[in-house]
Amino acid sequence: MEQYVIKGGTPLKGEVEISGAKNAALAILAAAIMTDETVTVTNLPDVRDINVLLQSIEGIGAIVKRESRNSVKINGGTIRSVTVDYEYIKKIRASYYLLGALLGRFNEAEVALPGGCDIGTRPIDQHIKGFKALGAEVVIEHGMIKTKAEHLVGSHIYMDVVSVGATINIMLAAALAEGSTIIENAAKEPHVVDVANMLNSMGANIKGAGTDVIRIKGVEKLHKTEYSVIPDQIEAGTFMFAAAATNGNVLVKNVIPKHLEAITAKLLEIGCTIEEYDDAVRVIGTRDLRSTQVKTLPYPGYPTDMQPQIAVTLAISKGTSIVTESIFENRFKYVAELARMGANIKVEGNTAIIDGVEQLTGAEISAPDLRAGAALVIAALTAKGFTTIDDIVYIQRGYENFEGKLTSLGACIEKVTSEKEIQKFKLKVG
Ligand code: UD1
Repeated sequence: MEQYVIKGGTPLKGEVEISGAKNAALAILAAAIMTDETVTVTNLPDVRDINVLLQSIEGIGAIVKRESRNSVKINGGTIRSVTVDYEYIKKIRASYYLLGALLGRFNEAEVALPGGCDIGTRPIDQHIKGFKALGAEVVIEHGMIKTKAEHLVGSHIYMDVVSVGATINIMLAAALAEGSTIIENAAKEPHVVDVANMLNSMGANIKGAGTDVIRIKGVEKLHKTEYSVIPDQIEAGTFMFAAAATNGNVLVKNVIPKHLEAITAKLLEIGCTIEEYDDAVRVIGTRDLRSTQVKTLPYPGYPTDMQPQIAVTLAISKGTSIVTESIFENRFKYVAELARMGANIKVEGNTAIIDGVEQLTGAEISAPDLRAGAALVIAALTAKGFTTIDDIVYIQRGYENFEGKLTSLGACIEKVTSEKEIQKFKLKVG
């Protein structure tokens, strides 16, 4: 089992290049199979979730050619099955995008029920509601979601909750439906816009992505495109908090600063200095981090995927902070791990009350999920002494070469597989 071993206490300094957005790329890869022509996707992050999705796309007969670490060519002309039951697909949340993509193209799809991070119950009723509104039947049987339509017909759909996944899934299916679809109360996240842009570059007719109302005029067919995925807002935010928490000075490159505004606002509130450039932001930390209050909300609010990272930073900021999680009900599992490092956090319902401490101390901990795992790495980078983190497979699902990028910023971190390697690391860094 791979683990991280980390010696804390070094301020992060230097420049880091952000990869393509995992959550955008997952939907974009699903969209790529909606034509029988070849689609090229660049700025693709080389992370586990992406590789699993590519394997399952290959598994239904598409031709997948990895041109380089960050670019792939996909040809869906050879797809011979609409059933995706690949063993690993259940592990990734975004497997459900294959439902929308296959339903749109073939009027039929069967996909193993999605898993993903255990951060709550994560219902898919809004996806199902959308498919049904487009004229499809949907049943869940033997762990599979099965959906089928005579033909898809555009519809007026009001989303009961703001859901990124359901918005994108309906957009995928409706792109090839007959007539117009209107999605009201749509999610506005940057990756919703990116997927709409990508589909439009394939010949779709989607307007309003990035607002509450998305209008889709179905087209006959989609065609080839070459598309570059937007930078990963959450990876960027994670490095920004890593810089802040370690009292560092980091230029985070290849980002869209507009997408980071909610994160930047909080960093300013707690006392950091931020410099914004066209496609980069510099975060300069301070010894005197201050407390704040934050509530996770759909975009443009503060992202739930950045909740553990700010909580870890507030755990070493002066005063009492309040973090409220309003999107997922089970997103504080990392608090028990942080407590073992000396943090003073009380969770009541969906709220964490954090009393900042002077410094955390290294401990043996585990990553409970993807973003919490990354946040615990930040905690370890600030802590006195050594920390080992188990279950880093979660982190690898969504962060490309995390340890490599952190090392380039001066962090003392190594991926290890045995106690012997941990001892060797400790001897090396002293
Ligand atoms: C996506 C992201 C995830 C991020 C989340 C919120 C991917 C692969 N994952 O997840 O990293 O944390 O957006 O920004 O892109 N809900 C329902 N019914 C549904 C769908 C959702 O009630 O049918 C609820 C969820 O339980 C949650 C809220 O809506 O409370 C938002 O979920 P949603 O935006 O759908 O999250 P995901 O698309 O699963």
